[in-house]
Amino acid sequence: MTLNSNGFFAERVTDVQHYTDRLFRFRVTRPQSLRFRSGEFVMLGLPSEGKPLLRAYSIASPSWDEGLEFFSIKVPGGPLTEKLQNIKPGDEILLRPKTTGTLVHDALLPGKRLFMISTGTGIAPFVSIMRDPETYERFETVVVSHTCRTRAELQYGFDSVAATKDDPLVGEEAQKRLLHFASTTREESTHQGRITKLIESGEFCRSLGLPQLNPAEDRIMLCGSMAMIKDVKALLEPQGFSEGANSEPGSIVVERAFVG
Ligand code: A2P
Repeated sequence: MTLNSNGFFAERVTDVQHYTDRLFRFRVTRPQSLRFRSGEFVMLGLPSEGKPLLRAYSIASPSWDEGLEFFSIKVPGGPLTEKLQNIKPGDEILLRPKTTGTLVHDALLPGKRLFMISTGTGIAPFVSIMRDPETYERFETVVVSHTCRTRAELQYGFDSVAATKDDPLVGEEAQKRLLHFASTTREESTHQGRITKLIESGEFCRSLGLPQLNPAEDRIMLCGSMAMIKDVKALLEPQGFSEGANSEPGSIVVERAFVG
């Protein structure tokens, strides 16, 4: 599709899957001219009579995929998600043509292991990155960590890791080198507690069979709640991790997950 007169791509929903009453995933057709780096976000909205309301959404599909995938929260009374949660295949979605973001390989220094640490819908950009062949060229070991309130909220992560290990392009590498860590904070599961607590206690790295986090070898991407990002940074910065950006790569990069 081409840009409409208001500067949007008008795309079609192809698939919707509801995971819980708070979370759903959807796919839309991809504008042929939309180029992005795995891990970036795009401004997304619904057609409306007035000016469309847009929100930043991380693209969960990799840059080579022919469609675009998103993972969204449903916020009761949220100006966009209250309507967005009702979309069906065939409905129209608006996208701004420009993508951006800091959860990209270019913003990280070279390292041995990549840790992608998320809460809630913050896993979305990491689903894109774990399906990108460049990730396995740059890192020996790739860890995707997801913490949610309940086990049902972790399902998208399990499905995405399984799909990645089955992927014709990266499946073989992912089977050997992609590790998944999942924890819940308000329900029992294999690993229980906030990721901050699990990093501090050593349980996080120990259960993955990896050495404790160190800035000489490890690179960290954080995405999810603001409070989680702040607290994980506060844990790691005294150990020598420093925040990077596209203009100056570092050992941690962060992005807040979309809400509202
Ligand atoms: P908790 O249940 O203890 O609040 P939400 O569903 O509110 O977006 O939160 C997603 C996950 O992020 C929850 O498991 C939540 O844990 C966790 N979380 C919230 N604040 C922090 C924080 N400051 N540090 C680490 N994890 C957090």
